[in-house]
Amino acid sequence: MSAKKRVIIVGGGLAGLSCAIKLAELNVEVDLFSMVPVKRSHSVCAQGGINASNDIARQQGFSEWVHFDETVLGGDFLADQPPVLEMCNWAPRIIDLLDRMGVPFNRTPEGQRDLRLFGGSLFKRTFFAGATTGQQLLYALDEQTRRREAEGKINKFEFWEFLAPILHDGVCVGIVAQDMRTMQIKAFRGDAVVIATGGNGLIFGKSTLSVICTGGAVSRCFQAGAKLGNPEMVQVHPTAIPGEDKCRLISESARGEGGRVWVPKKKQDTRPPNSIPEDERDYFLERMYPAYGNIVPRDIATREIFQMCLEGYGVGGGNMVYLDLRDKVKEIGREKVLAKLEGILEIYEKFVGADPLHEPMKIFPAVHYAMGGLWTGYEAKKSSPGGLEPGHHKNFMTNIPGLYAMGECSFAFHGANRLGANSLLSCIFEGLFGGLGIRNYIANVAPVAADEIPVGVYDAAVATELAKQDKLIGNIGTENPYVIWQEMGKWMTDYCTVVRYNDKLELTLQQLQTWKDRYARVKLSDTGMYTNQNLSFTRALGDMLINAEAILRAALARNESRGAHYKPDFKDRDDAAFLKTTIATWNAAAGIVEIGYAPVDTSLVTPRPRTYGKGSTKVATKPSPADIAPQPQLSAT
Ligand code: FUM
Repeated sequence: MSAKKRVIIVGGGLAGLSCAIKLAELNVEVDLFSMVPVKRSHSVCAQGGINASNDIARQQGFSEWVHFDETVLGGDFLADQPPVLEMCNWAPRIIDLLDRMGVPFNRTPEGQRDLRLFGGSLFKRTFFAGATTGQQLLYALDEQTRRREAEGKINKFEFWEFLAPILHDGVCVGIVAQDMRTMQIKAFRGDAVVIATGGNGLIFGKSTLSVICTGGAVSRCFQAGAKLGNPEMVQVHPTAIPGEDKCRLISESARGEGGRVWVPKKKQDTRPPNSIPEDERDYFLERMYPAYGNIVPRDIATREIFQMCLEGYGVGGGNMVYLDLRDKVKEIGREKVLAKLEGILEIYEKFVGADPLHEPMKIFPAVHYAMGGLWTGYEAKKSSPGGLEPGHHKNFMTNIPGLYAMGECSFAFHGANRLGANSLLSCIFEGLFGGLGIRNYIANVAPVAADEIPVGVYDAAVATELAKQDKLIGNIGTENPYVIWQEMGKWMTDYCTVVRYNDKLELTLQQLQTWKDRYARVKLSDTGMYTNQNLSFTRALGDMLINAEAILRAALARNESRGAHYKPDFKDRDDAAFLKTTIATWNAAAGIVEIGYAPVDTSLVTPRPRTYGKGSTKVATKPSPADIAPQPQLSAT
């Protein structure tokens, strides 16, 4: 392979860093772009943990197969199964690797890495570092990145914004990016490009995501011809602190460690929580789901919390419920609870001003994660029982040759609902496993080396972005981009999150057209050419509008309920009509999003009803073998 070949990675979170480290280890040069210092990528906000089956979990009856089965059930069978199986098989090795890198995982008194319960499982199978797991993982990978940087294998471009992929004869051969300080726009050659830019929570206004998570990079790839998979699948996390500026996550680990969700039994009860006696509280998740209780998967917990508030049982009749750790404090003491959850308890105390171990936290669901994203392919293993072909160049490649997507911005793994603590895993797995396929692509498959492409291709791409920028800067208008964004966020949250009705989705689509018209008349408050964040945000708003259209059209078309996508008018999952991946395509000529479908690979586990024991009175401490799909046996060769 020519020494000049290089890979561009856009995004400095866990997916981007693990891919960069893997490529560097394979002797491939990497240019790594990030809008923020990589240590401030949104992965730093992940709290609760990372799932894997290890020996201790195995002794309880857990296994990689059960992890896989839980994940596809959790996703309501909308995830292609071979990538999920491969991820779960890799998970224990990923934990070992992170441990060797120095991640300070919590330990048991015997010195084993400790495990906690997390949503959608009756097994303790989630590794954690207090309640700041994402931060610890990101910092560990950052150190490895710096090591490779010192060796000259990784070049970091922090404070650079991705503007567009560069295509030549339909193949991705680089990117256009902008220095967010000097505002210089420049083209970069790359033999492959990896988009690892995270989620798009800003489309919903307030969410648990960082304010850079506009989904702009994904939308720009979409407008360049990349397809989206399942854009309608949006996760609303059950437990967040609602805030004026944004919502702040209170990790599922609070429930995994024994936190209990409740509301007063009496509607509109305004008594302080500490004065409401035990028998006047409704621990509704425990009542409705005796087996899983507070750790039912997120889509279910969120809907139930939402419903209780709709019925007037929320705190003081409003939109909040209690999350209570006081029983846990009584059981093991304050210090031990702090040792596991201090990171989130500090956040609560700081933003609410109350001690969450003294009185219950007041929480409400908030947009948290995009299961949908750039569509990516894979090569399934030929041999039974099926995972992925290691090193295959198609693994995690979009429909544009040479353009890959990893982490939250890809649609893979989580189907219609992600299980908590599977996100850190999927990010790191994609980076580590996908790196070899990318190396093989640039070495053996790419039709042309980026260095051999005429400079005019790159100059033209820069000129296109400059023209777009000039148009925005010089726009004569009166519309404030932040006002359009706030309106869009409110409508998207009200009509396209927990409960969806077709008439409201149609209304929001009509409204979207008015936001697009107003966007054409947008006026920038800063037209200067130094650290112009107003320009960056306004550009991203245009991209968010297109992404919002994909979400709305896909949600409108899916007339069923599956995972996080719930339509009261179509209450059931409809496998006959909708066991298929939504594929959204941008029709540039018409300026609209088109919706189509592709089959889902359910070759390993047959879809089954997803009830989590609702209505049963049986309290299980672990699932019976009948609840877990049988594992195919290796065929004799
Ligand atoms: O609740 C949490 O700690 C979030 C974890 C995740 O999204 O995986």
